[in-house]
Amino acid sequence: MTTKQSATAAEESARPVRVNSWNGWDPLRHVVVGRAEGTVVQAPEPAVSRDYPDDGFPLGTYGPMPPDMVAEAEEQLDNFAALLERRGIRVDRPTPVDFTQQVATPEWTHDSMFGCMPPRDLLLTVGNEVLEATMSYRSRWFEHLCYRPVLQRLFDGDPSMRWEAAPKPRLTDASYNAGFWDVFNKLTTEEQLARVRDYDLVLTEAEPLFDAADVARFGKDLFVQLSFVTNRSGYQWLRRHFPDHRVHAVTSTNTHPLHIDSTWVPLRPGLVLHCGERLADAELMEFFKLNDWEIVEAVQPASWQHSPKLSFCSPWLAANMLNLDENTLCVEENELPLADQLSGYGFEIVPVPFRAVGPFGGGLHCATVDIEREGTMQDYFP
Ligand code: ARG
Repeated sequence: MTTKQSATAAEESARPVRVNSWNGWDPLRHVVVGRAEGTVVQAPEPAVSRDYPDDGFPLGTYGPMPPDMVAEAEEQLDNFAALLERRGIRVDRPTPVDFTQQVATPEWTHDSMFGCMPPRDLLLTVGNEVLEATMSYRSRWFEHLCYRPVLQRLFDGDPSMRWEAAPKPRLTDASYNAGFWDVFNKLTTEEQLARVRDYDLVLTEAEPLFDAADVARFGKDLFVQLSFVTNRSGYQWLRRHFPDHRVHAVTSTNTHPLHIDSTWVPLRPGLVLHCGERLADAELMEFFKLNDWEIVEAVQPASWQHSPKLSFCSPWLAANMLNLDENTLCVEENELPLADQLSGYGFEIVPVPFRAVGPFGGGLHCATVDIEREGTMQDYFP
């Protein structure tokens, strides 16, 4: 570290903690960056099962991710955290627990946990509030424990922080459509898309369920994607929880809806990125157009041909970028076509090596959670 950089980091840690973030583009001051350490390919459960016969984890098997993959991802995550710190952004990290352990509630037992990536899935910051999502995988039921040290520090440091947790779900068999994957995996693409459109997927409506990463924040407007991990009841819960916001439920033409942040990506006021393969529903597009927003169709990701080992993400992870402010975007270093496209809209691009993190569930947006951005709640759709 140069003297200048150390001074910046020292200044940062002296600055009082403040939880405040209303959208994805205001100037970033404080962020959480996830960790790959200890991640496991989780044991099969009704919500999800992983089948990677070529990568050492055929259906039904589970266990720690290969150590070389963990080391490489950790290095990229650490470098990214250091890059943010050099830019004067404060960075916190979660504390992993032993994810190989069995977990249980009085109603079920599950043979493994998952990890503490991606933090965006679990924590939703809206203004001065950090909300712990319900989650809908049994393997992720206790993931909040990894973030409790950070959350406690935020709570102690910022007297106006609101620390909230959505009702912990029961996740009994009643929360899942029995045999869903066997049926769904055999449908044609058209049939799968129809199921997504009608929102008839793995989750039942037995209780509210949502992942934080299914929520896109645009100031007063919050867009909640109904997905494999977010149900209608979860959307209703969010709506009642944020009475000062307009909370919209959206679906996308995507056979595997899971987290909105590679599909409908806020760039700056008036500009949203749309990952073309997965046309967002017409109503959503209309809503943005009526309000004079420009919808940019993302170019095909460079990673199109590249499916990393053990990854459950699509190439659209390319669009999973982190804004440092409304003119500066962190983009995975291999995604040159996308970087070029966005430079054309006036963005300064910060290339970040991050491919090794993909198999741990995410890109630059998923791997982070905003704690503080400058700015206030604005209505971008008046
Ligand atoms: N499921 C998305 C895809 O495969 C990736 C979204 C990851 N986002 C996240 N917050 N984990 O394209």
